Amino acid sequence: MYGSEAVAHDSERTAFRKAEKKYKLYCDHNKSSKKKKQPRPVDLSEVIDFKSILDSFNRNGELPPETFLSPCDFDRPVFCLESRPGFYFIPGAISVEEQCHWIRESLASFPQPPNRTNHNAIYGPIDDLFLAARERRVLVEENSSHTDGGSDSNSFACKVDGPIWKFSEEPGASSRGNMSKSMLASVLLRKLRWSTLGLQFDWSKRNYDVSLPHNKIPNALCQLAKKLAAPAMPLGEEFRPEAAIVNYFGLGDALGGHLDDMEADWSKPIVSMSLGCKAIFLLGGKSREDLPLAMFLRSGDVVLMAGEARECFHGVPRIFTDDENAEITPLELQFSDQDDLCFLEYIRTSRININMRQVF
Ligand code: SIN
Repeated sequence: MYGSEAVAHDSERTAFRKAEKKYKLYCDHNKSSKKKKQPRPVDLSEVIDFKSILDSFNRNGELPPETFLSPCDFDRPVFCLESRPGFYFIPGAISVEEQCHWIRESLASFPQPPNRTNHNAIYGPIDDLFLAARERRVLVEENSSHTDGGSDSNSFACKVDGPIWKFSEEPGASSRGNMSKSMLASVLLRKLRWSTLGLQFDWSKRNYDVSLPHNKIPNALCQLAKKLAAPAMPLGEEFRPEAAIVNYFGLGDALGGHLDDMEADWSKPIVSMSLGCKAIFLLGGKSREDLPLAMFLRSGDVVLMAGEARECFHGVPRIFTDDENAEITPLELQFSDQDDLCFLEYIRTSRININMRQVF
């Protein structure tokens, strides 16, 4: 017991943990204001801003100390950091049209079975979660003896063994008096934290489970990843995306410091795309004791981590969902037609990260 307390106490003291705590969202209760919960102000003066670096580079060709341009042949500037070999930052690498496309895919297609999501453990595979949220459906636990879920055209069967969960159109499904458990699809969508594409990652074993059924990563995403990975690839080799993890962040969500170390060949990059609200990314060193660098990630930015950078702890302690700081105006303008309003409503207060990996 004392041992574990000591470990927890120690981990609070690492440089990485301190930076996470510095940037994390804390809300203060303000009795005098109508908005009771106010985000606590945070000092962002040390956060590297590659958008400003790009603007100033385009204006006068100058770069801050410690930052240099990758000599690769790419259609826009790719920035590197002296202190983090193998790390590449490509501001605005993905056009606004493409961002909208991948936001739609991340919500409507990527969580579809056989891809797995964080909801699988409780509900089994869920079909058409985004559609169900849009149609204000409710996921209801059925009596498990009802195995013929397909007979009702307004419902979709969701789990084969164990309890069966079905979407129902009935808004009052939870109050039918049969004590069924139920959950609004819109709440499940908000609680979506990850989905996995291609080879499925097993979070409990922290490894890829090649025995799990899976679809190939969509070709358009593979082609995009190949193009984006090029600055970080060994000469003459092409990136082969075999797995992707899609992370979904809402207000107050964070991704703790970690290493992506379950792939065989660290000379190949992790290709990481940001969509939606602005975030802070922490790039540490090989030990949690190393002081991390903080940088902004905006919608359309791409980060590559290869070679030595694969051994660096990294995480996302904060996303900004307020109008002033989220910086999603270009997406708001692009998502203008009626069909897109539900995507816009989601992404206004959320961030999506798609990170692609070559596993073998
Ligand atoms: C990750 O490190 O796995 C994701 C980073 C991000 O969300 O940008």
